[in-house]
Amino acid sequence: MSQPPETEGDHAGQPAPPAARNPTGPETRSLPRGHAAPNVGAAYARLAPFYDLWAGFTETEALAALLALAGPRDGERTVDVGTGTGRLLGELARRNPSGTNVGVDLSPAMLREARRRLDRSAPAGACFLVEANACALPFAAARFDLACSSFMLDLLPEEDLAVALGELLRILRPGGRLALASFARGPRWYHGLWSWIAKHLPAVLTGCRPVDPVPHLRRLGAEILAQRPVSQHTFPSCVVVARRPA
Ligand SMILES: C[S@@+](CC[C@H](N)C(=O)[O-])C[C@H]1O[C@@H](n2cnc3c(N)ncnc32)[C@H](O)[C@@H]1O
Repeated sequence: MSQPPETEGDHAGQPAPPAARNPTGPETRSLPRGHAAPNVGAAYARLAPFYDLWAGFTETEALAALLALAGPRDGERTVDVGTGTGRLLGELARRNPSGTNVGVDLSPAMLREARRRLDRSAPAGACFLVEANACALPFAAARFDLACSSFMLDLLPEEDLAVALGELLRILRPGGRLALASFARGPRWYHGLWSWIAKHLPAVLTGCRPVDPVPHLRRLGAEILAQRPVSQHTFPSCVVVARRPA
């Protein structure tokens, strides 16, 4: 894994932050907004070695739906924000071996797991990892054809949700696709149990709760292309694909 091309450009008129120059190095950017991010970092430092067990049980079907709806193509520039252990990033790279696939996460522990996975299984040279916050992405505008984020938005403080979605849209070229998978409310009684746990025992789910990005995306001017609810072993999620207006 090395430095992603063209991350050093302008970011909102500012020079690129250090994390963009040294994607997997020790620097940690200061977090611009929100309260949960430092706790999220600590939680995922503990969870990193075990995260794939939980994800394999509850999230893999949503990731498959996201990939099917987003349709990554070879030669594209893709980014996965909140990449975690790099599961989705690896799948993007398999479909896009001659393009560029960038994984972003604020947890160095999760990035280490991602690097292990990708060194083993991703096409050589197709993936790059960057330590950064979704609310201040270290990329110039309009750099990507496809931006993905799975099971990260549901961890963000409410006030950061629109900020992160705005960032995801900003880094997409006009007409580029945004593909999201998130913990959601579902129609069945057992889906309600997960919402109850999120509300009353938040530590069990590392603070994630059901979210609906669609109203935010509409406010930000994105066109909604698809919405697909998924339920895996009772866990409810929703995949949303949107387009940045041309
Ligand atoms: C539930 S895990 C999901 C990982 C991966 N996307 C997947 O679907 O397997 C959430 C990930 O988002 C990262 N994360 C949470 N808040 C973030 C933020 N503000 N910026 C970047 N990454 C964040 C966490 O460190 C963690 O790796």
